[in-house]
Amino acid sequence: MTEQVQQAHRRYGPSEQWRHINEAHITEEAVADLAGFKSNGVNFKLALWNPAPNGVRYLKALTFLLGMQLDPTNRERLRRTRNREVGDPYSVRCHGEPVCLDYLQAVHEVDFIATQVTLDGARILEIGAGYGRTCHTMLSNYDLAGYTIVDLPNTLALAQRYLHTVLEPEQFAKIRFLGIDDIDDTVRADRFDLCVNVDSFAEMSPGTVRDYLALVDATCAHFYVNNPVGKYLDKTLDGHSQGTAVVELALTSGLLRDVIDIHDSEAVREKVPAFESAYRPGERWECVASDRAIAWSYYWQALYRAEPVTR
Ligand SMILES: C[S@@+](CC[C@H](N)C(=O)[O-])C[C@H]1O[C@@H](n2cnc3c(N)ncnc32)[C@H](O)[C@@H]1O
Repeated sequence: MTEQVQQAHRRYGPSEQWRHINEAHITEEAVADLAGFKSNGVNFKLALWNPAPNGVRYLKALTFLLGMQLDPTNRERLRRTRNREVGDPYSVRCHGEPVCLDYLQAVHEVDFIATQVTLDGARILEIGAGYGRTCHTMLSNYDLAGYTIVDLPNTLALAQRYLHTVLEPEQFAKIRFLGIDDIDDTVRADRFDLCVNVDSFAEMSPGTVRDYLALVDATCAHFYVNNPVGKYLDKTLDGHSQGTAVVELALTSGLLRDVIDIHDSEAVREKVPAFESAYRPGERWECVASDRAIAWSYYWQALYRAEPVTR
């Protein structure tokens, strides 16, 4: 090596980190074959984080991106929803405010609903509320008349405990927690301005979804649904980490069971008419708003309005 070359290596040569990368990843053998290099260890040192061990990084990147895109109205809805850090979510900070994906979705859901339904003074029924993020967001932003949650016993108990912790006592007092045993006597005898179902009809047996839709038809004036348009089998997404039996269960639940490429925007859009038709609670209902849901590519949201019953 000439003195000139040695000098160039000293001045511009690789750090110890890059010496290691070249020896371990961007090897002669790797360079000789382009097949697969963009989704293997070569590119994971060049342009992309390896998605397998970097799930939290990608979740936070998505959350950050969406958090920074919030418009002032939704930023304010988020800010008014206090105590969101209870339960230690994966969160990022945007403009000084902690942001997690759950509540990002909640403010977008509420935003979509609020364009069609007057929420101040509304009586709301939610079927399958999880820990209660949508209820928390609604009660923190609107002067609702009441909020009824119908769920399975264990989740209902979690929602009760969580919402008691995060809400002011006068907000919490507006919530009624009902089990499935209370539906036919209590819920069916009541009337609601809006029913909400987010990410749960697709996980119930088809007959149960039909029974719930009949309940909505009999008791509600509006219906908001936000659920997947279909099923998927792409093993690269999760390695079927919960086992084949769980995959099989997922494939048989819900009304919309066609397997699609959930990351193909047109494949998703093709399923929208079936989605709108499947979740229409009955003959007197009209779909008045329909759009992609945030943040998952294959979730759709629709808002239906019922013609008033003439007696
Ligand atoms: C995936 S979680 C979604 C929770 C919440 N909507 C959210 O998006 O955060 C599904 C919810 O549906 C509820 N669920 C499942 N089967 C149900 C049934 N047959 N009746 C009522 N709720 C049910 C679960 O207990 C859970 O609360």
